[in-house]
Amino acid sequence: MKAPEALDSLRLRLRRPLASDVEAVFRRYAGDPAVTRYLAWPTHKSVDDTRAFLAFSDAEWDRWPAAAYLIHRRTDGVLLGSTGLSFESADHAITGYALARDAWGHGYATEALAAMVELARTLGVHRLSAGCHPEHLASQRVLEKCGFVREELQHRVAGFPNLGAEESQDLLLYGRIP
Ligand SMILES: CC(C)(COP(=O)(O)OP(=O)(O)OC[C@H]1O[C@@H](n2cnc3c(N)ncnc32)[C@H](O)[C@@H]1OP(=O)(O)O)[C@@H](O)C(=O)NCCC(=O)NCCS
Repeated sequence: MKAPEALDSLRLRLRRPLASDVEAVFRRYAGDPAVTRYLAWPTHKSVDDTRAFLAFSDAEWDRWPAAAYLIHRRTDGVLLGSTGLSFESADHAITGYALARDAWGHGYATEALAAMVELARTLGVHRLSAGCHPEHLASQRVLEKCGFVREELQHRVAGFPNLGAEESQDLLLYGRIP
């Protein structure tokens, strides 16, 4: 079963990224080091990095039931960030979220993550996972508000390229059955 390429929640429109989104994605969040600090991918240095992400997203959409979604505010169409499902297998997906700085603190991440949980459920995902840095309390709160349970603390894994390439970091793993 293939996911819809656009989904609405109360305040948000989630839709598959288009090639024409490249400038907005770079400018709004992917090129901002404050946004990418705790993410698993390096801060985009130029729109070429963003273009590569969009190509990767298309390949993932071709291969799996769903992949990345951009998050827009329904009232004015402003790009707020991204979320999505990254499939490890047909019944196990990993999720995450990143919002532009001016979109923090409005409950948008919680709303977007709740939409991903519901989507995962309709796609027959049996296990939904998310990773988070132990110091990133806001993200842990988002996961817990959406019913994720802390499952494991992995010690000194490399996975945070924006916290210093040399340093390995601890990683908190969360999971839930959608
Ligand atoms: C982390 C992030 C997704 C949160 O998005 P958001 O839309 O502000 O989150 P929400 O408003 O839905 O919920 C945040 C919750 O964390 C709480 N919170 C915020 N800062 C906190 C802190 N320093 N310590 C503890 N809780 C905190 C908020 O009070 C809120 O909980 P509440 O509803 O019980 O009051 C957003 O800051 C972001 O995109 N950051 C950059 C990308 C990123 O780090 N993504 C996650 C990677 S794991």
